[in-house]
Amino acid sequence: MQTDVNPVILRPADFAAEAARFILDHAHAAIAARGLFRLALSGGNTPRIVHAQLFALGADLPWNRVQITFGDERCVPPEHADSNFRMAKESLLDAVDIPAGNVFRIRGEIAPADAAREYEDQLAAFASRLGEPRYVHDLVLLGLGEDGHTASLFPGSPALEETARNVLPTIGPKPPPQRITMTFPLLNAARHVAFLVTGAGKHPLVEEIVAGGSAHPAGRVRPTAGAVTWFVG
Ligand code: 6PG
Repeated sequence: MQTDVNPVILRPADFAAEAARFILDHAHAAIAARGLFRLALSGGNTPRIVHAQLFALGADLPWNRVQITFGDERCVPPEHADSNFRMAKESLLDAVDIPAGNVFRIRGEIAPADAAREYEDQLAAFASRLGEPRYVHDLVLLGLGEDGHTASLFPGSPALEETARNVLPTIGPKPPPQRITMTFPLLNAARHVAFLVTGAGKHPLVEEIVAGGSAHPAGRVRPTAGAVTWFVG
């Protein structure tokens, strides 16, 4: 398992299987160390193939020891085609034996400001039980947009400058526009972040960001005491 703090770019032959194995390695290590694996799922489409491999390769994972959060959500109901929760449910959560209480869903169906505050409070309540100033993920999965966005942290958004809140409502150019997103303070509290990026068109952007292109939102994901790994396919 990669432990140095400099971002690492991996270009595996089997993108989905290697990313899934990476996640499972982190899961087993976290459960062995702390009895729980706290994983933030990414939205968009790329995660679907990784989720399928997580199911295929993760039969021996004690899913009751896994806690799922969402890096962002669209402001739509959970059954909506654009819902990140629905995507995760269809591609992973319905297939594995994970207790419903272990899945922290962002309620995209209520007023955005209320959904953000509610989610922030839910994460804070769990973190306080562990004496954490803010929730510490073992692993955060993130995607990358062509404009350098990640989660729902889009270029030019006021949310990029947030230093206190952990979850905020945002508006973005990628439909649907209204979203809820984890902020950099929460993302950067993670022990490890893995970007899952597919599409040759994004490869130069990945290189630019890893080289230090923090002008892009994704370039500002720099865990305070954690590492970043890029899976590029
Ligand atoms: C979302 C995502 C977003 C996504 C990227 C990449 O809710 O849209 O969180 O950040 O990860 O736009 O999306 P693809 O994986 O579909 O290319």
